[in-house]
Amino acid sequence: MPVQMVTNDDLARVVDTSDEWIAERTGIRQRRIAVEESASHMASEAARRALENAGVEPEALDLILVGTTSADHCFPSAACEVQGELGAIHAVAFDISAACSGFLFAMNNLQAFIRAGIYRTGLVIGVDCLSKLIDWKDRSTCVLFGDGAGAVVLQASDKGIQHSVMRSDGSKWQVLSCVSRTNGNLLNGRMPEPGYLYMNGQEVFKFAVKKVPECINQVLEESGTDIEEIKYFILHQANYRIIESVAKRLKQPMDKFPMNMEYYGNTSAATIPVLLDEMNREGKLNSEDKIVLSGFGAGLTWGATLLEW
Ligand code: ACO
Repeated sequence: MPVQMVTNDDLARVVDTSDEWIAERTGIRQRRIAVEESASHMASEAARRALENAGVEPEALDLILVGTTSADHCFPSAACEVQGELGAIHAVAFDISAACSGFLFAMNNLQAFIRAGIYRTGLVIGVDCLSKLIDWKDRSTCVLFGDGAGAVVLQASDKGIQHSVMRSDGSKWQVLSCVSRTNGNLLNGRMPEPGYLYMNGQEVFKFAVKKVPECINQVLEESGTDIEEIKYFILHQANYRIIESVAKRLKQPMDKFPMNMEYYGNTSAATIPVLLDEMNREGKLNSEDKIVLSGFGAGLTWGATLLEW
């Protein structure tokens, strides 16, 4: 996580907003904003911590996948930068672009490689640095996001990912988008300019509270798992009201839905691995616990994964 913290009160000095408005509607009270840290630096730090925790050397990695939509460079990929930082000389590395679903989609991709017997050990990172894509004069979006990274190591084993569902609906891409650069060139006489994040907040809200319970139910049904067996639902940390609504639709108690957006805001692809790592380090995850992860974001994209810890 970046060092620099920005509170809701700090934002209220820049745009017409308040701690009360932001906290009531989103559950967010502060976020970290990258000043010195680059996306690849945050990703490499998260990766080092995950490798250390798993007792895996960088040289043992076969594959590095990074879920991100805000890498430092258009090319090379963040994953290649991380590979270089770690010295993971035997790995192949590339990024997966699925916005806030990026970590989940990357993890499911790695699992498919492992299940197919192509690779044995891989690293998945979710990192985003959306602060550089935000219009800091737009109060409807600038209060929602933070920067950060989280990572996990996956190895061939009977435990871990049991089943997963990934979905997308490209007909709704306009609901949440960011133009990388406007069209500027020699012929139109304009210089390319940076684009900013655009969001239709209410459409995102409606999409999330419908599709997240649907795909969680699908993953449970297809794996023959009773919802009561699930210890935690670790959802993308966009907004506590979305999570409350999902819990209600699934008829599950709120204490099964851990949250930390209060401290970090919505860190996009990083929210799920950051929360998973916090819970693991706090000793909340025990062997054989069944956990559902669910992400949703621009694309639109969404998905759910059933894990046995
Ligand atoms: N502070 C104060 N007032 C604000 C702010 C702000 N930061 N932002 C908007 N407002 C104002 C609006 O201008 C509007 O004022 P008006 O009535 O005078 O026109 C009023 O608040 C209500 O605006 P709405 O957009 O209708 O607010 P809403 O209640 O829908 O809440 C929110 C906005 C929190 C974004 C909500 O739509 C939401 O939770 N959407 C989900 C989107 C989300 O979580 N996105 C995260 C990124 S996407 C992802 O991770 C997948």
